[in-house]
Amino acid sequence: MSELDPAALAQARALLAGADRIVVFTGAGVSAESGIPTFRDALAGMWARFDPERLATEAGFRADPALVWRWYAERRERVAAAQPNAAHRAIAAAEATGRTITVVTQNVDGLHRRAGSSDVVELHGSIVRAKCLEGCGPAPAGWEHDARLPPPCPRCGVPLRPDVVWFGEMLPPGAFERAERLAAEADAMLVVGTSGLVQPAASLPWAAVRQHRPVIVVDPNPTELDRLATVTVRGSAVRVVPSILPTTRPAPPARGAAAP
Ligand code: OAD
Repeated sequence: MSELDPAALAQARALLAGADRIVVFTGAGVSAESGIPTFRDALAGMWARFDPERLATEAGFRADPALVWRWYAERRERVAAAQPNAAHRAIAAAEATGRTITVVTQNVDGLHRRAGSSDVVELHGSIVRAKCLEGCGPAPAGWEHDARLPPPCPRCGVPLRPDVVWFGEMLPPGAFERAERLAAEADAMLVVGTSGLVQPAASLPWAAVRQHRPVIVVDPNPTELDRLATVTVRGSAVRVVPSILPTTRPAPPARGAAAP
């Protein structure tokens, strides 16, 4: 295991300690150490083994609903068996320092919420929810019991589908706009475990950069977002995130300091 860069760690810690409002922007890498595969890893990544055209588009679902439903049922089971890791937990625990911590995630696994994060923007939906293919609304309780075939929507009878964003689809209404506003207003943005290749999500750190807010990127590998980072910490989410997020309240202003 390679050494973490102490100077990068120290800089990341200082930037986050000085921030009252932190946006944590995450991708599949934050859940990798919970046993959930990423998408673009050359060998183990999901898109190296499965065809996104067949499994992650509306056309693929319409062509073979049972295949797509089973694939998501398997992923749902894997997610249900997984546990939030130390990075998810550290992000949730940082709320106890009194700072405003908002998680903006591309992940559909629900692990940030299970770790206790109270404000999570799920840009790509959630694998633990389903909805009507024709837009009637969310699935009724009990929908997840059939892992082989998508159950019919109780209102219109067409199959239910996973409530995730497929290729070519819009993000959930309002989610991107809220995330962009939060990124622009944050005092710092912490980016963890995303290749930065999927738009529009990958453009969010630019909203922070445009407001001259620091962006800290944590990833064991080079990413598209390194070039905009104030500091890049090379290392896994579990090794790095708990050691850079603040665990104590911000220091009060020094005695005698002039009021702003
Ligand atoms: P990717 O698979 O594209 O990128 C995962 C990132 O996590 C890479 O930069 C890895 O280096 C990094 N990584 C791997 N292990 C890590 C670890 N232990 N700790 C920290 N980082 C680690 O996943 P995303 O960027 O999330 O969209 O992909 C974005 C979107 O593409 C997904 O939300 C999904 C996919 O198609 C939809 O399904 C709509």
